[in-house]
Amino acid sequence: MLKEALASKKCLIVCGGGGVGKTTIAASLGIAATRLRKRVLVVTIDPSKRLAEAFGFKEESLINGGEPLLLSAEVKAKLGIAPENELSVGILNAKYVLNQIVEQTLTPIQQQKLKNTVLYANMSNMIYGLQEYTAYEWVTRMIQAGKYDFIVLDTPPAAHAKDFFNVPDKVKNLMESRVFQIFMPKKKNWFTSVMNFSWVEKLLGERIFSESRIFFETFATLRDRILERCEWLSRFFTQQEVAVVAVSTVEPFAQFELQGLIAFLKQKRIPLQSVILNQVEVRQSAAQDATLTEYQEYLSENPVLANKIKLLHERREGLVERAELRVENIKKNLAGQEMIVVSMTYDEDGFEILRSSSEQIQAF
Ligand SMILES: Nc1ncnc2c1ncn2[C@@H]1O[C@H](COP(=O)(O)OP(=O)(O)OP(=O)(O)O)[C@@H](O)[C@H]1O
Ligand SMILES: [Mg+2]
Repeated sequence: MLKEALASKKCLIVCGGGGVGKTTIAASLGIAATRLRKRVLVVTIDPSKRLAEAFGFKEESLINGGEPLLLSAEVKAKLGIAPENELSVGILNAKYVLNQIVEQTLTPIQQQKLKNTVLYANMSNMIYGLQEYTAYEWVTRMIQAGKYDFIVLDTPPAAHAKDFFNVPDKVKNLMESRVFQIFMPKKKNWFTSVMNFSWVEKLLGERIFSESRIFFETFATLRDRILERCEWLSRFFTQQEVAVVAVSTVEPFAQFELQGLIAFLKQKRIPLQSVILNQVEVRQSAAQDATLTEYQEYLSENPVLANKIKLLHERREGLVERAELRVENIKKNLAGQEMIVVSMTYDEDGFEILRSSSEQIQAF
């Protein structure tokens, strides 16, 4: 049960296709968990203005500081979180985390050398997977520091939901790839003494070549630490205290992605806790319908508007019926798997979406 996982696991990783609502659900899971536990952290990878605002933060202050911020007493009260429980929200700042790794691993002289290279300034954008890797690094540090009882990790938009779990392997492959082999300092053997890389120097120009050399030489020290962490992370995913929450909508493409993700998790032996079907069109509650009937009286004086509203109602009815059919089918396909439906909230206020989603998750 998701509720039990919220009360007892160490970490939930929220996965799903692009735009299905991963960040929203991660935040909602964090809120639901803080109603049960003392110190909860939500780590999101998106610099999402909407999310920062919904929690009462300025987006810049949340990103630039690099460290998570605590929710105010006011916002907690509005979300039904007890004053003694704490919810922290952190937006990943890849450069900040990378700087920290550098500062912990290299000597001050090495640090200076590395930071002066052009490659370093662009490293987090340049090296594919590094942004994601820093998310892992950050979460690992938070877990090991023991500051939080429970962590929800939102995952970045990826071409495929499962890409996130391949990051340790990808980073590992990159570290062992040819580009690193060319620049890395290596022990001399007959091969390297015969080979010379002056062609690379000619190709890149002397300055870039020597800078690249400095970059890769100092990076060699970081590489070992990154490789070691990749190994640790691959094991981390399969621990019992960690599980995945897969988010999807009922749309066919999102479902296709979900099936791929589920098969992948099975193959990698990564535990799947729950599937959340998000942004599902559901029938209006009786109270909402009553409000509409109330307006109908005024609308009788304006037949054109009344007709438009009638058409909108019919369209919505159609959407609801289609969604109900799809939810039924998905339920059959996922037999035996816990599935939670979170409805589409029609509200401009990001806070309302979080409040409603977290209540639906908790009520399940
Ligand atoms: N249940 C919901 N009801 C209404 N709006 C929602 C709901 N869930 C998400 N949204 C809205 O949908 C949009 C996308 O949501 P969100 O950013 O959480 O998706 P995401 O999967 O994290 O996207 P990305 O793949 O870009 O990271 C946002 O505007 C969010 O407010
Ligand atoms: Mg997101």
